[in-house]
This record gives sequence, structure tokens and C-alpha cells, in this order.
Amino acid sequence: MAFVERVFSGVQPTGNLHLGNYLGAIVNFVKLQQTHNCLYCVVDMHALTQPVSVWGGPLELARNTREVTAAFIASGIDPKKHIVFNQSQVSGHAELAWIFNCVARVGWLNRMTQFKEKAGKDRENASVGLYDYPVLMAADILLYRATHVPVGEDQKQHLELSRDIAQKFNNDFGDSIRSHGFNSGLFFPQPEPLITGPATRVMSLRDGTKKMSKSDSSDNSRINLTDDADTIAQKIRKAKTDPEPLPSEEKGLETRPEADNLVGIFAALSGRTKSEVLGEFGGGQFSNFKNSLVELCVAKLSPIASEMKRLVADPRHVDSILVDGADRAREIAADTMKATQDIVGFVRKH
Ligand code: AMP
Ligand code: TRP
Repeated sequence: MAFVERVFSGVQPTGNLHLGNYLGAIVNFVKLQQTHNCLYCVVDMHALTQPVSVWGGPLELARNTREVTAAFIASGIDPKKHIVFNQSQVSGHAELAWIFNCVARVGWLNRMTQFKEKAGKDRENASVGLYDYPVLMAADILLYRATHVPVGEDQKQHLELSRDIAQKFNNDFGDSIRSHGFNSGLFFPQPEPLITGPATRVMSLRDGTKKMSKSDSSDNSRINLTDDADTIAQKIRKAKTDPEPLPSEEKGLETRPEADNLVGIFAALSGRTKSEVLGEFGGGQFSNFKNSLVELCVAKLSPIASEMKRLVADPRHVDSILVDGADRAREIAADTMKATQDIVGFVRKH
């Protein structure tokens, strides 16, 4: 059976939205609006998986939920044509996650590298939610039977797990799925990751071997979507580089992570390829290239920052967008949940 194409993706409201989130994810969210029906979700339930000190407590969670929503809208997501909402307001996410908990295997979760990274050495003390994180993520996507999921490179393994869960559910319940009118025996699609563009993994400005991250203790490691022009300029001028001039071909970037990162950022922001960027700047010094990168970054990000500021100053308006989005998401979710309950054998009101 061919599934109706639908896009779903999520961003955690854990503060410090940065250039990596923008180029790895949000830019692609914006593009996909032209070709697909899209749902973009602020995954507030996922935020709780880390210690309270990381997500900052209730007031911060609410503030960051509105800020991610504002970033979506300011970047060009249209909440009328598509659906923007926060995860906790559609109960199907938690309900489907429970069923998927009973489909996913402990061995699968034990292989998740992000859990190992986030749990660190003290694994005994990690929350059960952090361990279960990828199962909730599969529920997010499959609650809408979404077929395409735009994400950064770091989410690839989680997407593979979502595919495995969809497949095992279809297998485990194959007969029941068919008897409920899905003649192909496939109820859930296997969602495809969309990891595209020259900046699917934006690296720290201080260390080209580390991912740019919300939680890095050095603010100079990342460009925040809320940074003003002076801050952006300072951070890029201070960004780590090496003493060589820029190479003329992409091959020359292979052993130079910092150069590769900055060229990738330039390419993504200007809608060009890395080799086109090197065609213009190859052979030249970093200082000249950095000046152009500052100009480009400020030109692209400043309008987003000021629109975000305007939006977060009006929380009632932002909240109304989320409430309306959740109402519409709930309708799609309800259809999936009813069919899933029938397939599993949960008795319900008809
Ligand atoms: P998160 O902030 O972890 O919720 O991530 C939101 C989205 O941004 C996900 O699709 C991530 O894959 C993406 N993302 C996060 N950090 C980076 C990065 N450094 N480079 C590219 N994409 C990223
Ligand atoms: N795990 C994703 C991240 O940290 C966020 C996320 C939660 C997500 N649910 C999702 C992304 C569903 C895509 C689809 O980046």
C-alpha cells in the first residue's frame, strides 16, 4: 500500500536554539511545506528526559516552548497551512509510546549511542525516560503515520529504530491489521529520514570535532538564533581555524574539520555547494572569508532574531498557535489511535 506522504519532525524546548538546529533541521522544515503536509512539534515531553538542571524547570520549559514555536514561525513555517503544536497536548504520543514500549526490544535500546552519550558515566542515575526516548520519538512520528522525517545527522540511529518498531508492529499484528481492513498488512509506514543539505552536522566553532550543541558550556561554541549582529561577528571572528589558506577543492577539507565546518555553514546559508564556495574563496585567507561569512550570517539570521523577539513578546498569540495546532493534530492522532487499539485488541466505545 502506498501511504499518503506526510512530514513530521520535532525540536526539544531545551534552550539555546542554534545554527545547527536551523541548518540541520528548520531550513528543511520550511522547504518541505511546498511539497508535503507537515507537522512540526515542540517535544516538551522529551525535554523532561534530562535532569531538571538541564532543561531549567517549569518556567524555563514554558519559555523555551514558546521560543521554539517563535523560531519556527520566524523562519517561515506557516502554522495555518501546516500544523505547529507541543507534544504534551496530544495524549496519543504517550499512549502510542506505551504500545511501542511493548514492541521495541531492550537489546535495540541498548545500542542507542545518544543514550550512552547523554547518560555519561553514571548510567544508573539516568532517567528511565532518557532510555525510552527513542520509543517516544517513534510514537511521535507514527501517531500521524508520517512517511518523511527531516532531521540532522545525529538523529539517524533513532530513525532506524522507528523503522524497526513500525516493521515489528506490522509483523506482530499482521493478521489483525488485515482483518481490520488494511489488506496490505501494513498499518504503519516505515518513516524515511531526510538528512539533506551541506550542513547536516554543524560543528562547534571552538572545536571542529565536536557537534554544535545547546548544552555546550561555552556560548562561543555556537551561534544562537537570538544572537545580535555584534555577537555573531565576534563569535565567527574568534572561531577556531588552522594556519593554511582555504583549499580550492572539497577534497582539501577532509583533514581540516574547522575549515570544513565554516565552508559548510557558508554553503548552507547561501544555498550553494561547498565546492562552489571554495571556487570563490579557495586559496584565500580565513580573515577575508570570515568577513563574508559574518555578513551572510547576519543577513540571514538577524531578521529571524527580530521576528522571534516580536513573537515571544506576545505569549498569548504564540499559545493560540500551539492550541490550534494541537486541536488539529489531535484529530489525525485520534484516527490512528482508534485503529491501533482495534488492531491490538483493546475494547473501546464505537
Ligand atoms: P534538538 O535540539 O536535539 O531537539 O534537535 C533539533 C533538530 O536539530 C534535530 O533534527 C537535530 O538533528 C538537529 N540538530 C541538532 N544539533 C545539530 C547540529 N549541530 N548540526 C545539525 N543539526 C543539528
Ligand atoms: N530527538 C529529536 C532531537 O533531539 C527530537 C524529536 C523528538 C524528533 N521526536 C521527534 C525529531 C520525531 C523527529 C521526529 O533532535
